[in-house]
Amino acid sequence: MNDTFGIRLTEQKRTLVAGRLSRRVRQLGYSSFHDYFLHLQEDHSGVELSELINRVTTNHSLFFREHEHFDLLAKELLPPLIQAAVKKPGGSVRIWSAGCAAGEEPYTLAMILLDLMGTLPGGRGLKAAILATDVSMDALMEAQEGLYPETRVKDLPATYRKSYLSEAGNGLWSANMDVRSLVTFKHMNLVREKYPFKSQFDIVFCRNVMIYFDTPSRTGLVEAIYKVVKPGAWLFIGHSGSLPRETCPFKYMKPASYCKLIP
Ligand SMILES: C[S@@+](CC[C@H](N)C(=O)[O-])C[C@H]1O[C@@H](n2cnc3c(N)ncnc32)[C@H](O)[C@@H]1O
Repeated sequence: MNDTFGIRLTEQKRTLVAGRLSRRVRQLGYSSFHDYFLHLQEDHSGVELSELINRVTTNHSLFFREHEHFDLLAKELLPPLIQAAVKKPGGSVRIWSAGCAAGEEPYTLAMILLDLMGTLPGGRGLKAAILATDVSMDALMEAQEGLYPETRVKDLPATYRKSYLSEAGNGLWSANMDVRSLVTFKHMNLVREKYPFKSQFDIVFCRNVMIYFDTPSRTGLVEAIYKVVKPGAWLFIGHSGSLPRETCPFKYMKPASYCKLIP
């Protein structure tokens, strides 16, 4: 798990992981984790690896989680970016939610963008795209379904909820079409894959993902992100993490907020 996905499973997590995997082991008719491990090694299709990662990763997220980042985006960072993009021929705003879980984070970003596009001069003409990637297929399927219980939308400001979510019955909320249409979901392992992007990003959210990574994977990931963002771009990580200031190519700006300086 560490080499392939950067996910460090320490001895303290043994019980948690065993609990999460034992159902799968029984489902396949194995009587031990050892037999399951052999099955995993023999399966070159990637199906079992995907099942494993779905069970081991924690996909918890919320709309408007750690709202300071969204406040900064809405009030300070996005308005000038949007205005510059609409004035520039072929200009656009590109955001990447790396480790997007079930879509709460990229959909929150879409709501903020839509709101600004509706209020800023020329905003409606903006070309904007949010790429949302995750290694968990289960999380991505949930994201594409776009249905959420009250507990996950509870922090969403009332105006956003009113404009961008609809009641879908059984206590669930559904993300509206305009929100969905700004977001593209893709399966991607942040640690192993060579990033296939054609254009660079203005903003990257990689929050509460690296906390599971060991130091080399974290360093490698930050360097890889640095290469796919524009000068002046911002990187947000989760508030419970930090990047080492001496080696980090981004400049620390605010808690859990970093910027690629313009040379
Ligand atoms: C706790 S969630 C964070 C969701 C959201 N960014 C937030 O802060 O609310 C962590 C996500 O990172 C994903 N993840 C973990 N390792 C990954 C990897 N190597 N590549 C891509 N995604 C990964 C997990 O599947 C999970 O959905």
